[in-house]
Amino acid sequence: MNTQIPAVLTKALRSANHIAVLTGAGVSAASGLPTFREAQTGLWAQYRPEDLATAQAFRKNPKLVWEWYDWRRSLVAKAEPNAAHIALAEMARRVSKFTLITQNVDGLHQQAGSVDVLELHGNIGRTKCFHENVVIESWLETDEVPPLCPRCGGPLRPDVVWFGESLPKHAIDAAGQAAINCDLFLSVGTSGMVEPAASLLRVAAEHGALGVVINPTRIHAPAGVIQIEADAGEALTALLDQRWPQG
Ligand code: APR
Repeated sequence: MNTQIPAVLTKALRSANHIAVLTGAGVSAASGLPTFREAQTGLWAQYRPEDLATAQAFRKNPKLVWEWYDWRRSLVAKAEPNAAHIALAEMARRVSKFTLITQNVDGLHQQAGSVDVLELHGNIGRTKCFHENVVIESWLETDEVPPLCPRCGGPLRPDVVWFGESLPKHAIDAAGQAAINCDLFLSVGTSGMVEPAASLLRVAAEHGALGVVINPTRIHAPAGVIQIEADAGEALTALLDQRWPQG
């Protein structure tokens, strides 16, 4: 299916000095990683978020939470970057200024060659001490679940942002600056339901950028935002071809 690119977007692609992109779980769907909120496949359909992705849940049942992330890590380990990740890495190489902001914790953007990725919600491949909040590279493997911090003996946890926790300051500040300064803002594969990431599209539009949503499902978006109802990989590849025709 050939994604139709509106003329106003083609024009913006050609004139943009700074393109900012926010990605969500939909970008990794084609890599086989379940999204969060899609009823039939979404992770949350099987679990109640408050039972897993919060510090309170971890305190109440650290083993359950650790094992759920272990399961997700096993899915990520088998996942490969897809056309969406590859197109974004290529786009970054072709524009003068490109900011990639992701809510995803799977590291697939980096695997596809993207650099300086702003990981708003952390990275499931990193582990930190629950008490000291420092990243722990290695620990003694015992039958303890979760494993224990080699420094303080406390439980280890994934280095991801849980509901109710603050985002890494450098990442959200840089993302906010990119939203303010960019000429074109692409929101790709996200339901736009979780703050503060969800506000970036509005901030960009308010500061004069052309806003674009790429999602097979229409989402709530500010007036003037273009919605391309398509798969991320197809649409992003079409954008690349539109801006830099093959051959
Ligand atoms: N291409 C583009 N978008 C897609 C595709 C696809 N192939 N498949 C699904 N989508 C869209 C869905 O329509 C949905 O709107 O991806 C979106 C995924 O939305 P969510 O599951 O809500 O994921 P996300 O927006 O990334 O969630 C944000 O919420 O649970 C927290 O921390 C978690 O980072 C996550 C945050």
